[in-house]
Amino acid sequence: MKGIVLAGGSGTRMQPLTLATSKQLLPVYDKPMIYYPLATLMLAGVRDILVISTPASLPDIQRLFGDGSRLGLSLSYRAQAEPRGIADAYILGASHVEGERSALILGDNFFHGSGFRSLLQRGWEILDGCTLFSYPVTDPERYAVCELDEHGNLVAIEEKPARPLSKNAVTGLYFYDSDVTEIARFLQPSERGELEITDINQTYLKEGRAKVIELGRGFTWLDTGTHQSLLEASEYVRMLENRQGVRVACIEEIALRINLIDADACYRLGAEMSNSEYGKYVMSIAGALA
Ligand code: DAU
Repeated sequence: MKGIVLAGGSGTRMQPLTLATSKQLLPVYDKPMIYYPLATLMLAGVRDILVISTPASLPDIQRLFGDGSRLGLSLSYRAQAEPRGIADAYILGASHVEGERSALILGDNFFHGSGFRSLLQRGWEILDGCTLFSYPVTDPERYAVCELDEHGNLVAIEEKPARPLSKNAVTGLYFYDSDVTEIARFLQPSERGELEITDINQTYLKEGRAKVIELGRGFTWLDTGTHQSLLEASEYVRMLENRQGVRVACIEEIALRINLIDADACYRLGAEMSNSEYGKYVMSIAGALA
């Protein structure tokens, strides 16, 4: 099982914040944005992950995570020279995926909710061609939108429709079988000049092999790609962390809890950041779970 974090794009909507750094390295409260999608892939059981970003940002992301071994992961990196579209992840990532099932997550997608890990597990269990995750929103026209029948079966998907069929946005987390690279290879750019992930999903839908898991009201999904949603995500994380005394998307804690690293290794990772509250939290978790 392989994973891809797509963390490129020009970030023009977030300028001037993104003039000197990538959007996915901007803070969501106490950690860089990219921690959140990485945490999601870890919870989905993925260990071997390709990070795709712009040539300018890739060295910074590499400095952040290295080869991933300190977290029990295997991370590799690939530059996307131009933002050719989300589906380009499966052209650039074809050799990484190599005939295995895979999960793709967009670097600005934030998921949180109790029972998320078992829901992700279910996503793999029901995977035939692709598993998508939908979430009800008040502004569906900003996203891909899906329509389900009364049994919860997927009947249609449209990218940013002017007149949405439903309120169900297709989130930026996708599980695929090994056919995805072949489907991506034959894609043509859309009218806006991009290789659309929605075209891949529609191919699976036509074959009757696309499924959707609905994330209900107990979940939070944010696409942190606007100033407002970035701030909303920070406020959400701050509220939860301060109220409960736990950290959201603390990748060191997740690595420990899912047995990718032991308590000593976790403690050492925390100790390297011991001047920060985050580092102290990692050390305390390592102590509590030793
Ligand atoms: O967030 C969910 C939505 O993400 C889906 O509902 C849509 O179907 C999907 O098209 C996408 O819509 P966006 O308008 O958010 O796509 P955007 O072009 O902003 O790209 C999403 C992220 O992917 C962004 O953080 C930058 C990155 N990206 C995008 C492109 C087109 C890349 O790294 N490379 C690219 O070539």
